[in-house]
Amino acid sequence: MRFNLPRHIGIIMDGNGRWANLRGLPRIEGHRRGAERAKDIINASLEMGIQVLTLYAFSIENWSRPEEEVEMLMELLQTYLSGEFVRMLREGVRFRMIGDRQRLPVHIRELINRTEEETSSLDQMTLVLALSYGGKDEILRAVKKAIRLEMTEDEVTEDTFEELLDTAGLPPVDLVIRTSGEKRLSNFLLWQSAYAELYFTETLWPDFTREEYISAIQDYQRRERRFGRVLTPLRLTR
Ligand code: FPP
Repeated sequence: MRFNLPRHIGIIMDGNGRWANLRGLPRIEGHRRGAERAKDIINASLEMGIQVLTLYAFSIENWSRPEEEVEMLMELLQTYLSGEFVRMLREGVRFRMIGDRQRLPVHIRELINRTEEETSSLDQMTLVLALSYGGKDEILRAVKKAIRLEMTEDEVTEDTFEELLDTAGLPPVDLVIRTSGEKRLSNFLLWQSAYAELYFTETLWPDFTREEYISAIQDYQRRERRFGRVLTPLRLTR
């Protein structure tokens, strides 16, 4: 299993609402179950030795959901972060957030800043939460930073630009998993997933088990990643 393990996995945790609807439950119940799944998948990632796990928890587009759902999601996040903090310290998990932090409620922003600071030296795994996140927004913010820094045309390279993104210092994404049958990236890690392998499953996020997670990783391990190159020399002439 350890051979050819993805270094960075990104997950679009989709289908919480449908999971709840199917059971006649309020949508927030689906998110609660989703948060429990996230804990289990984080544990499995730690056990497998995944270096970076990025979870798409709240997109910039999610701000336009009904106010009540947004508030409940923020509450859930707060409970989740404060509840998981001790475990992160114990297990050596470094926490990072990517996304537009200015739009988050102040108390959540402060909790995030504190969690990031206090886990900054931990190195068993990095857990990244994408919150108030949009890939296009992240790229635009990076462009604006470059302008503010008065970078010259020559100074803007792929390497220097990557350092301006929220994911500065993290490896590119190797595998993106999306649950619930939708087959799109929905503004998730647009720059970072340029060569990512994609895994789509019909399973709704609250039903996504660690067994399915492992089989997604095994599926990745069987793929041949060419990054636009030709790996096996082709015989062009006889
Ligand atoms: C997509 O389901 C999921 C979200 C918008 C929120 C994801 C949040 C969680 C899993 C809980 C919080 C997680 C952590 C790690 C704190 P959806 O509501 O779009 O589902 P639908 O497409 O079926 O309506």
